[in-house]
Amino acid sequence: MPGKRLISIEGIAKRYPRKGEGELTIFEDLWLSIDRGEFVCIIGHSGCGKTTVLNILAGLDTPSEGVVIVDGKEISGPSLDRAVIFQGHALLPWMSVLGNVAYAVAARHRDWPKAKVREHAMRFIDLVGLGPAANRKPSELSGGMKQRVGIARALSLEPKTLLMDEPFSALDALTRGTLQDEVRRICVSSDQTVLMITHDVDEAIYLADKIVLMTNGPDAHVAEIVKNTLPRDRVRNDLHRMPGYYDLRNHLMDFLVTRSATFKDELAAGLPYDFRSPPVVVPIVTKEGAEPAPVDAKGDRVAS
Ligand SMILES: Nc1ncnc2c1ncn2[C@@H]1O[C@H](COP(=O)(O)OP(=O)(O)OP(=O)(O)O)[C@@H](O)[C@H]1O
Ligand SMILES: [Mg+2]
Repeated sequence: MPGKRLISIEGIAKRYPRKGEGELTIFEDLWLSIDRGEFVCIIGHSGCGKTTVLNILAGLDTPSEGVVIVDGKEISGPSLDRAVIFQGHALLPWMSVLGNVAYAVAARHRDWPKAKVREHAMRFIDLVGLGPAANRKPSELSGGMKQRVGIARALSLEPKTLLMDEPFSALDALTRGTLQDEVRRICVSSDQTVLMITHDVDEAIYLADKIVLMTNGPDAHVAEIVKNTLPRDRVRNDLHRMPGYYDLRNHLMDFLVTRSATFKDELAAGLPYDFRSPPVVVPIVTKEGAEPAPVDAKGDRVAS
């Protein structure tokens, strides 16, 4: 029986050399663990290093310090066990929808005959509702359809981890909502482990089990990890009627509007903070004016 923890990010930093001015630290001392089946979102302002963190997890970039352990092993490069859905769709323009997905499946299962590859690819194309468009080229698809191909391709790899970099940000509201519903349905039903980057607080509340709040860069940090205690069977259109929804939303908005910038001052003023285990917070207020309830390392509430 494999352990509960799948990914362990241990003290990673990313630094770039600067002409004549020493190094620029984008983020440092970043620690985060992700359990199997967990859906984790990272939220933070532009430039704090979210894509860099995701690329490091994908094996497409390397940290300047620290390590990432997946399934007990330090990662050393890209792996089909960690599929990425990019913000741009990154499709091969000369191949059809089926061709794009089958290409990935064939790379994963080199010994499969053509018919089996095709059947497997079609299963995932159907899953995202693109069956009737399977023979179209990317140039004949809308933005939302292209994004679906990217999702089908990543899911068809049946990866241990799905990494998504703002997968819905370029879509209109209606398409975004539909795709969020589909991705959530697929991930919940298959206990998929996911790390997703988003700028959208409501998207994070709908999809994530926990939400990682990153402070502004340079020198960004994980300020805290917010536990989402809304029911797992939540429905997008009913979120705002759920008890605790506004506490959670206000907490995330307050972070983005204020604390993401002032956290550094709090640290400098002596805020007790352990980089290795950032505070886990459940921002559901129990009585008027109360502070977010403190929780232990497992995210369970502790008596205050
Ligand atoms: N090769 C590089 N040399 C110097 N700085 C770089 C390099 N690549 C990225 N950066 C800087 O690293 C920082 C983090 O970039 P990253 O793309 O990870 O940010 P992000 O949080 O994903 O932002 P966004 O929300 O806009 O996508 C940015 O300030 C960027 O300018
Ligand atoms: Mg980015």
